[in-house]
Amino acid sequence: MAQFEQSERVINPIIPPFLYGTAWKEEQSQDERKPYNDQDPFKIQVTQSFTSSLKHLQTAYIDSYVLHGPYYSKGLSSADWEVWEAMEQLVHEGRVRFLGISNVSLDQLVELYKEVSIKPTFVQNRCFAINQWDKGIRDFCAEHQLIYQGFSLLTANQPYITLPLIQALATKYGKTIPQVIFRFAKDIGMLPLTGTTNPQHMDEDLHLDDFQLTGEERRQIELISLKQ
Ligand SMILES: NC(=O)c1ccc[n+]([C@@H]2O[C@H](COP(=O)([O-])OP(=O)(O)OC[C@H]3O[C@@H](n4cnc5c(N)ncnc54)[C@H](OP(=O)(O)O)[C@@H]3O)[C@@H](O)[C@H]2O)c1
Repeated sequence: MAQFEQSERVINPIIPPFLYGTAWKEEQSQDERKPYNDQDPFKIQVTQSFTSSLKHLQTAYIDSYVLHGPYYSKGLSSADWEVWEAMEQLVHEGRVRFLGISNVSLDQLVELYKEVSIKPTFVQNRCFAINQWDKGIRDFCAEHQLIYQGFSLLTANQPYITLPLIQALATKYGKTIPQVIFRFAKDIGMLPLTGTTNPQHMDEDLHLDDFQLTGEERRQIELISLKQ
């Protein structure tokens, strides 16, 4: 089940060599394998995947455990219910603090939210300007106090974030285009995720609090795809 967020793989190669020196090399080939057996029942796969995550992250618990996405692109299936129940069990056991769901449609989110006993705390979606920056899901999240995490804000929206409106705002405030986009994302209630690996970009992205967009500027960015 390649549905779990495996982002710890990204940091894993950095931490273990520091902690274990040369022993890491031996383990590396094992870690290339899937952290679960996809012939096993889904709830067992969750346990296997989770155990692997704890090992990679060198931790005893995980703050936010995010399901990478529903099994099918439409609707929720028995696989999804079984997986979510297994994830809930990890919360009951005190091994996970918060659950999340990613790559989800509004219909799927509404259905999940209605049925499960432990609701998602985080909703993590690729955020497209073309659908008003995932407005339907953002509105649902706001109504139910869920935290919306937007990703690919820059990479998925190149045709829009390079338009004169955004360039003019960057010039007006003396900021970069990514800073304008991340400021906008925070202003509309999002927790923006960034994929940068550049320390300067990280630093710039963390310094957004010394400027404010006006309400009208925010509205124009939110509706930017409708003006084209
Ligand atoms: N749930 C999922 O299915 C899923 C899927 C994909 C990603 N994600 C998450 O979303 C996060 C964002 O991923 P993304 O790659 O789509 O991110 P993104 O923030 O849209 O794009 C990052 C790209 O923009 C460039 N960039 C230029 N200036 C930047 C600036 N000031 N700040 C940030 N980036 C700048 C980066 O290059 P430089 O490195 O040179 O800055 C990088 O190539 C990832 O870290 C991951 O955790 C989740």
